[in-house]
Amino acid sequence: MLIRHPEDIAPSEITPLRTYLNRRQFMLAGAAGLLMASDAFAALSFKKGISALAANDKPNSLNDITHYNNYYEFGSDKADPAQYAGVLKTRPWNVVVDGAVEKPRAFDIDTLLRMPLEERIYRHRCVEGWSMVIPWVGFPLAALLKQMKPTSKARYVAFETLSRPSEMPGMAEGLLAWPYREGLRIDEAMHPLTLLAVGLYGNVLPNQNGAPIRLVVPWKYGFKSIKSIVRIHLTDTPPQTSWNLAAPNEYGFYSNVNPGVDHPRWSQATERRIGEFLRRPTLMFNGYGGQVASLYQGMDLRKNF
Ligand code: MTE
Repeated sequence: MLIRHPEDIAPSEITPLRTYLNRRQFMLAGAAGLLMASDAFAALSFKKGISALAANDKPNSLNDITHYNNYYEFGSDKADPAQYAGVLKTRPWNVVVDGAVEKPRAFDIDTLLRMPLEERIYRHRCVEGWSMVIPWVGFPLAALLKQMKPTSKARYVAFETLSRPSEMPGMAEGLLAWPYREGLRIDEAMHPLTLLAVGLYGNVLPNQNGAPIRLVVPWKYGFKSIKSIVRIHLTDTPPQTSWNLAAPNEYGFYSNVNPGVDHPRWSQATERRIGEFLRRPTLMFNGYGGQVASLYQGMDLRKNF
């Protein structure tokens, strides 16, 4: 795939993904006599994944994706994460996977970066009524969870973000229950569309987008897609989620994109694609109904919002 080097972001702000590729791959590529130019090398390192976008879904610019963010640990203004998240130290970094699994384990982030990576271009719909299209790089959450051998008690998956007030000035505002937490049902977590993202636009994640690893669940409102994950806990009880704790009548556990169920304070029927002027209709399950509607068969999605 192409690595883009947009003019609008300082090279120091993003680290080439190849920095994290393992040495063996590097040496094999070298042995094969390949040109070690970064673009050519990165093209070998991850493949294209499922995308299935409509003709009018073109990826947003890296500038939009990295300067219009929600990451409340760094403040509640859209510009705050780009301004303040740079100080977050993303090494060393461990992700603990535990709970209802036969083989609990703490993964060093550099081990996770050696999972087979794919580019997935997904629509991203925020509950606030805006949307983007983002070319993520990552691996299916299922690929990680299967390694841990979930037990029959694993009915839900709970996720937690790092809590480090010394580097996260927004935590002092107390807008949410920290650490930021989210949850999925196990079948949602194991769904092939559910991604752990470690990069975007071919490079490692900028801090404001949830470095070094974040969840992406493209058929749900963006707040499900928890950033900077340090713990993944499998459990038999529905996990607490930060937005549900903050406003239970506004943010339910399911959070499926649903133009037919309004937020109590605004309509969800349409959205503004960042960079566009006119609003466009919001699609049921954000347009991923063909892949995910069967997960909710027989459920009342007005009650389970
Ligand atoms: N994760 C953490 N830890 N803290 C947050 O405030 N905001 C959520 C989600 N993940 C949030 C988070 C919300 S509301 C959205 S819309 C998406 O991240 C935004 O992702 P983006 O900034 O990469 O577009």
